[in-house]
Amino acid sequence: MTVTVHPVSPAIGAEIRGVDISKPIDAASFAVIHKAWLDHSVLLFRGQNLDPDQQRAFVSLFGTIGVRSAALPHKRPRAFEGPDYNADAMLVSNVRKDGKPIGVLPDGEMWFHHDMCYSNTPNRASFLYSIEIPSHGGDTHFASMSAAYERLPEALKARIEGKRVLQAFDEVQDARLDLANIPLEEVKHAWQPIVIRHPETGRKALYVNRLMSHRIEGLSEAESDALLEELYAYGEDPAVRYEHVWKVGDLVMWDNLCSMHARTDFPKDQRRMMRRFTISGGPVVAAWEAAQAG
Ligand code: OGA
Ligand code: MN
Repeated sequence: MTVTVHPVSPAIGAEIRGVDISKPIDAASFAVIHKAWLDHSVLLFRGQNLDPDQQRAFVSLFGTIGVRSAALPHKRPRAFEGPDYNADAMLVSNVRKDGKPIGVLPDGEMWFHHDMCYSNTPNRASFLYSIEIPSHGGDTHFASMSAAYERLPEALKARIEGKRVLQAFDEVQDARLDLANIPLEEVKHAWQPIVIRHPETGRKALYVNRLMSHRIEGLSEAESDALLEELYAYGEDPAVRYEHVWKVGDLVMWDNLCSMHARTDFPKDQRRMMRRFTISGGPVVAAWEAAQAG
């Protein structure tokens, strides 16, 4: 069977057909998939049947398997267990055992974010495989932050040139942390370039998101909030989005540097279970640093 690439929106995402990713993939097919990955930032494979080891084997074709971001000392470990889990996988699930979620990011809506942008070495990519889905909702929306950056007016690009942004996160999925009342040391956080350069394509991408971005350096809180809102309008613009409606057996992989994602709400009383692996990444490179280095 021939591997084919089918874009799912103008700015981001492509469906890959004609490949069973539970099996070894020949070099020619992988070259097609890898090129599509760099061209489209989000790839979708439908109708897959993956156990944790098969998913892990597929993910490892793209790099070194990433570890979960370490919980801060005041956080309790969660109960991960069962046949859908293996040591490197993370369950994204609202399923509960003895009242406790068996996975992370359990319920409801999640605002736009880049995974682990609050770390100095965020994971490069995430691979989410759907095992159980609710009857409606729980869709995942992706936005191309390269396209968003390219759509900024030149004056707005100039205002953010060379700036860093404070990224922070602590489990709350649908509100920004109240850093006026939470000491920064108690949450995972990092100062990151506001525009990054993609390590493989060289394309610039906006690196802010509604959930985790808190403050643009050198600006007052009010100025920073206003500028962030202006940038979110570009990042969350439907013109740069692909909205994924899940089916069981979908594997979606996304580039965590040049895209952000969000989840829509879904019924509390219905099960949703996804299995996630990641690829580790190095320090984020600022667009302007890379330019200076030539
Ligand atoms: C994630 C995530 C969204 C979803 O796993 O990082 O944001 O749709 N998941 O569950
Ligand atoms: Mn995420």
